[in-house]
Amino acid sequence: MQSRSDASATTAKPPALRMRNLSLSYGVGPSRKLILDAIDLDVAEGEFLSIIGPSGCGKTTLLRLLAGLVPPSAGEIFFHEQPVTGPSRSRVIVFQDYGRALLPWRKVWANVALALESRGIARAERRDRAYALLERMGLTAVGDYFPGQLSGGMQQRVQIARALALEPQLLLMDEPFGALDAMTRQALQDEIARLALEQQITVVFITHDLEEAIYLGDRVVALAANPGRVASSSEVDLPRPRNQLTTREDPRFLAHRHRLFGLLMDH
Ligand SMILES: Nc1ncnc2c1ncn2[C@@H]1O[C@H](COP(=O)(O)OP(=O)(O)OP(=O)(O)O)[C@@H](O)[C@H]1O
Ligand SMILES: [Mg+2]
Repeated sequence: MQSRSDASATTAKPPALRMRNLSLSYGVGPSRKLILDAIDLDVAEGEFLSIIGPSGCGKTTLLRLLAGLVPPSAGEIFFHEQPVTGPSRSRVIVFQDYGRALLPWRKVWANVALALESRGIARAERRDRAYALLERMGLTAVGDYFPGQLSGGMQQRVQIARALALEPQLLLMDEPFGALDAMTRQALQDEIARLALEQQITVVFITHDLEEAIYLGDRVVALAANPGRVASSSEVDLPRPRNQLTTREDPRFLAHRHRLFGLLMDH
């Protein structure tokens, strides 16, 4: 068993994602507010980076910047050495607000298959591929439903399947499992970890849940608020594949939890 952070440390590759002096302000004039202040972060290729931080510290804003949905007020983002100037299908975001992410008039499978339409893939194959992803998300039974007929947690899983259908190089996830019950959440944590490892996808994963951040991450970055900035960055030296029972009982896991908990309390 090898930790991905060990693997990335031994390669001389440039980082997949490079943020330099990244700042964002909203508003104009006296109401202008600095939301993110001079973020400097590198994410290695294939790294699973967890980001935690208090509500309102700018986590979603940071993800939107990385997706190219908003331009920074200052600083730069490079993805594989190319400046990020707008959205790209290689950088896919799974939104926190799943309610607005799906097309309500398309069946579940057709929402997932949407990503494949512009690639000239025949309908039957699009359907098969969509169903294969729905199966990984435990949703085969509802492929012919419309999003409005699904629970919130199910809609969120459809959104994840659709993101995966794009075969992204960078997966940006904004508290994707917040709406799920504990068992589904754990199953999907393992599914995402497995997919990311298998397909060497670079992941930036935002969560409020400290244990989830450690369980999934090769590294956990904690943001401090007002303005949002990097408070700490900790490598997670836990082997993969991780296990919901043994990993969470591992003394190293508990040590990370104690240290990060103290750090979050200090901020
Ligand atoms: N479009 C916008 N215009 C003005 N201010 C905004 C806009 N979007 C976000 N903000 C402000 O930026 C700050 C950071 O918001 P953001 O959504 O990034 O926080 P967050 O860390 O994701 O919070 P949460 O954990 O609650 O999701 C907040 O103060 C918010 O009010
Ligand atoms: Mg948010």
